[in-house]
Amino acid sequence: MHDRFGPNSWKNLIIGTDTTVPLRNGRLVPAINFDNAATTPPFSTVVQDVINFSPWYSSVHRGTGFKSQFSSHFYENARKIIADFVKADYERDTVIFVKNTTEAINKVAHSLSTPENKQVVLSTCMEHHSNDLPWRRSYEVDYIEIDSKGRLVLEDLAHKLEKHKGSVKLVVVTGASNVTGHRNPIHKIAALAHHYHAKVLVDGAQLVPRYPVDMKPHPSLEHIDYLVFSGHKMYSPFGVGVLVAPKDSFINNPPDLVGGGTVDFVTHDLVQWADLPYREEAGTPNLMGIVALVSAIKTLQKIDLKRIDAYEHNLMEYTLRGLQQIPDIILYGDSSNLHDRVAIIPFNIAGLSHEETAKILSMEGGIAVRNGCFCAQPYIQKLLGVSQEDINEGLKNPDLPRPGMVRVSFGLYNQFQEVDQLIALLRHVVKHKHYYKTLYKTVPDFYPHS
Ligand code: ALA
Repeated sequence: MHDRFGPNSWKNLIIGTDTTVPLRNGRLVPAINFDNAATTPPFSTVVQDVINFSPWYSSVHRGTGFKSQFSSHFYENARKIIADFVKADYERDTVIFVKNTTEAINKVAHSLSTPENKQVVLSTCMEHHSNDLPWRRSYEVDYIEIDSKGRLVLEDLAHKLEKHKGSVKLVVVTGASNVTGHRNPIHKIAALAHHYHAKVLVDGAQLVPRYPVDMKPHPSLEHIDYLVFSGHKMYSPFGVGVLVAPKDSFINNPPDLVGGGTVDFVTHDLVQWADLPYREEAGTPNLMGIVALVSAIKTLQKIDLKRIDAYEHNLMEYTLRGLQQIPDIILYGDSSNLHDRVAIIPFNIAGLSHEETAKILSMEGGIAVRNGCFCAQPYIQKLLGVSQEDINEGLKNPDLPRPGMVRVSFGLYNQFQEVDQLIALLRHVVKHKHYYKTLYKTVPDFYPHS
């Protein structure tokens, strides 16, 4: 039976898939976006729902007019919709709206910190900077090791929990890596951490848009204590992120951001903080961001995240098969076990820098990828085997080429035929590598840096 809501129709859900972009020779071609791990284009329903909501848009929690009450009602209702989407324990968890994943992690780091003794946070060697740097400020951070393919070594988690027994406050881990796509066994990690009375934070920025997440109820050993994710990576780019956290996480410290909306009672000498989640949402809330996120979640649920995962997996497998047949392509990460991986593929072409490859893909094929370190420098350094001497050399000479990779990351709307174009172009570039290397020494960017 013809599936009216199957993968072939998903491209029509997205705005911008028919946009044309210029090549180096001035020709216009349909843009191909393989940079969905950085940000996704919007669902057209998201934009339509934002437009539809606009006549009703009014201040949240700050007015008595009908529109204001309606807006506040919508905003509050969204917490439950989002909690249900990730199967949070809504009795014991709070859903806090922030700007993005980075802000959510900074908020948890602030809330749990204590001035008197440095608690231990176990992060990992595969984290994005946002799940590393915020912890360095007020905690002793130790990093769980990865293996040669870039997968997390669970035995090292067990070892470090034992080593720091009694002092580990939190294990913080990405649900899926933004570099290799490796998916971590978050429930196994949670069970292990809970056994040592530590809590678990999962960075869901890459996982939540691609795979069904179940935080599980609090009594379960496998329960995820903290979950953070961003709207702009799930087809709703209106500046909203989510923190799901146990309500008792906010008793140590005053809110990180203070001001309107965070208080119940204020005199010049006294402040009484408002209840959760309001005390953690300073300033006028981003209602349109929430309208967009709720809309995106409804579309993702309608499609079904299991089908999205299956489809993106097929794209990844197909792409890897194509890349493996091109000489001089170096693949990173674990391609032998694609089961625990989301559709992200890092690679390089031997003899071309990551900057050159990314620029050639854009200017010769209209194909957008990301290159560099993807805000995960320590992970990239390990995957590339960058030595301490190389790092020291790079610090002394900022003009030296930086290590990095090229990354293809899929969204649910990408097409097999787009992958064919990528593979054909890469094949051609590899064959004429020296020509392109020489040519691109002098080709300026479309918008050269000033
Ligand atoms: N973390 C985002 C990326 O991987 C920004 O591109």
